[in-house]
Amino acid sequence: MIEDALNKLPEILTRDLERNLCVCNDVLRIDVIQAIDEGADTLEKVRQKTYATDGNGCCKRQVQRLLECLSEDTESTPIASENITHDPFPK
Ligand code: FES
Repeated sequence: MIEDALNKLPEILTRDLERNLCVCNDVLRIDVIQAIDEGADTLEKVRQKTYATDGNGCCKRQVQRLLECLSEDTESTPIASENITHDPFPK
């Protein structure tokens, strides 16, 4: 249920649910949360279901954060293979 998913999220991520998370494709934050709640457990699955991240990819980190929060209590971390490659602390 979407309410259960929302309860797993930090309060700040439950704000502005009816605003675009993905501005490239007009995808609402609540639609991404709902897609994850319905089983989209990777960035690719969220993209296929909602088209979020399918523009220039600028919302990937936001989607990844939602995936991390909503899959927190599962044993595996299915998003691990899709880690963002940007290293904020290059050697
Ligand atoms: S905001 Fe989602 S791909 Fe650009």
